[in-house]
Amino acid sequence: MRKPLVAGNWKMNLDRRTAVDLLTHLKSLLHDLNDEVDVVVCPPSVYLDLASLEIKLSNIKMGAQNVAATTNQAATGEVSAEMLREFGCEYVIIGHSERRAMLGETDKQIAAKFAIARDAGITPIICVGEEGGDGLAVVSSQLRAVVDKLGMQAFENAVIAYEPVWAIGTGKSASPSQVQEMHEHIRELVTTDVRIVYGGSVKPENAEEIFAQHDVDGGLIGGASLKAQDFSDICHAAMSVAGR
Ligand code: 13P
Repeated sequence: MRKPLVAGNWKMNLDRRTAVDLLTHLKSLLHDLNDEVDVVVCPPSVYLDLASLEIKLSNIKMGAQNVAATTNQAATGEVSAEMLREFGCEYVIIGHSERRAMLGETDKQIAAKFAIARDAGITPIICVGEEGGDGLAVVSSQLRAVVDKLGMQAFENAVIAYEPVWAIGTGKSASPSQVQEMHEHIRELVTTDVRIVYGGSVKPENAEEIFAQHDVDGGLIGGASLKAQDFSDICHAAMSVAGR
């Protein structure tokens, strides 16, 4: 039985005050959050400390948006997996398409980050997805880099986020059947009972139908994670599907 996960990727949004407001509001809206769903917030790294204090004693977990691809401390500007762990991060997003596109992150670097996160006891949420064209070919080669480095068992207890680039921030989500089809292929590829979440314009209106698909284990939420009510509604959609 795979436990659904809903993670909010705040990207480079909010400031100290609005971050605290959002978490305060979320805690009260998610007071009924049960053990059937993992809910994670992923603030910018400079707000991890503040966020960890805010979510203390709540059921909300914390994740980071990136981790260094090296354990070498001569790495100006980078944040290590140990540091993330110290601030209470249980998850880390790896290989987001924005970082692949803007910073030229390669599959090899992403596989290195994946390994480093795992070694530090942090669950990687590895993002894969096509800009257009043959999605399965793109996703397969993105996942292959991790398998080549770590073997198939690397995905045990990891999370794969399928995020088609064309659906991110566009308001135009993939359809539930498109999502199901890709997730089913991914599951065949990696052969383990890995959690596969979907990201790309998930909102309260479409969350339940997407999450109800057989191979969908929750979502990675961008824009809608910045609004407490929307994020809470999406988490409740996951809870309602899990409770069936
Ligand atoms: P949106 O939900 O804003 O489309 O962003 C998805 C995303 O990139 C999550 O990582």
